[in-house]
Amino acid sequence: MNEKNNKQMEQIVAFSKRRGFIFQSSEIYGGFAAVYDYGSYGTELSKNIKAAWWKAMVQENENIVGLDSSIFMHPKVWEASGHVSGFSDPLAECKKCHTRARVDHLLEDVGIFADEKMTEEEINGLLTENKEKLTCPKCGQKSFSEAKNFNLLVQSNLGNFTADWEKEPTYLRGETCQGIYINYKNIVDTARVKIPFGIAQIGKAFRNEITARQFIFRKREFEQMELQMFIHPDDAADVYEQWRQKRWQYYLDLGLKEENLKWHEHENLVFYAKMAWDIEYKFPFGFKELEGIHYRGDYDLSTHTKYSGVDLSYRDPQTNEKYVPHVVETSVGVDRTFLAVLTDAFVEEDLGEGKSRIVLKLPKNLAPVKIAVFPLMRNKPELVKKAKEIFDALKSQYMCEFDDNGNVGKRYRRQDEIGTPYCVTIDFDTLETGTVTVRDRDTMEQEKIAITDLEKFFTENL
Ligand code: GAP
Repeated sequence: MNEKNNKQMEQIVAFSKRRGFIFQSSEIYGGFAAVYDYGSYGTELSKNIKAAWWKAMVQENENIVGLDSSIFMHPKVWEASGHVSGFSDPLAECKKCHTRARVDHLLEDVGIFADEKMTEEEINGLLTENKEKLTCPKCGQKSFSEAKNFNLLVQSNLGNFTADWEKEPTYLRGETCQGIYINYKNIVDTARVKIPFGIAQIGKAFRNEITARQFIFRKREFEQMELQMFIHPDDAADVYEQWRQKRWQYYLDLGLKEENLKWHEHENLVFYAKMAWDIEYKFPFGFKELEGIHYRGDYDLSTHTKYSGVDLSYRDPQTNEKYVPHVVETSVGVDRTFLAVLTDAFVEEDLGEGKSRIVLKLPKNLAPVKIAVFPLMRNKPELVKKAKEIFDALKSQYMCEFDDNGNVGKRYRRQDEIGTPYCVTIDFDTLETGTVTVRDRDTMEQEKIAITDLEKFFTENL
């Protein structure tokens, strides 16, 4: 990460805390690595990101239905999925200070690419070859232990009581899509869906990530938004291409700048994938995976059939053909989308004469607060009363904020910083002529609008 990007990252981290978007978890106890909490504005932004995804995936596609499955699943799910045996990252320990690090990340830092499919032996080969270059991120020594595969599943002690299966370890889910596969039959039996159809889900996932870095990009507790399309095997190439295009367009519609997005094709594929492309976003630390689009073949339904003993094949109601559906998956983190959206929208604008403002140029549908309402002066009860009336009328439809603290210029700056598209000021003209001043976040232009026209204005503009 160069100095400029480093500064951008530091600015975003500090801003996120100062304006109540993101807090380090358990801060009063010294923090808890790779776990973060969303503050008041962060919660709104995250909620809006999830709503935008849900609208684009479930509401606007009549052949996609939603699901909300549990975080805990039968332990066999994770055996069948391959996570118990194959969901790991290579870990090495600094021989001096015992800091644990991901070897592929250490190699990446010195420009050497280590693929996720490499065996322990291959990774150790690279580690030995490059031992002079690899530095401990904590103490700076160049002396690491051999790399070992470290399983990323987060184990729990849920229900360790009686039945046989309960003697097996239980896990917090490592990805949300397993909940979709194990409910595939329930959905086919109840939702009147026919192949091709999709099941979409938003929910928490947990991974024992070895290194805590890059802010909310890599968390140990995070949220995923995943779609699994169940398709006929012959349609795989077409469906895959359609979803690649849809998902690219989705990010443009979400307001991300196209020059900050790029495709990355995986050459060596993880155990379940037959085709895999990532959409990468230019985070302050460089282009990194935002979303994965995977063609998973029949891997998931076949292995769950094998492990559960329940036939998960599909019989086409028209042709009577019986087959195991193939899966095309799109998978993105809420938190990574959040960081991409924040990075894209964060602007420090020069206003001339030595003045500047921070403005979050968020798309209006994502803005945490849509309208801020100000009485021009807080010590004029007639202005405050009118402003409260307008605020009360708007708040049933939009997330609004009432602010009577400080001069109006300062209030504008506060709202610019959190990306509020419109501010409405109630002044003495309001009392006389029934008009208010509506100020636009991006242009900073102000226009007088009659109170009676406000509803129409916001319906058209928000
Ligand atoms: N079901 C497929 C799957 O889980 P993945 O590439 O491991 O694939 C999918 O994860 C997406 O989930 C990633 O593209 C990323 O957006 C998000 N994600 C994965 N690990 C994450 C982490 N530790 N913190 C935040 N987001 C993460």
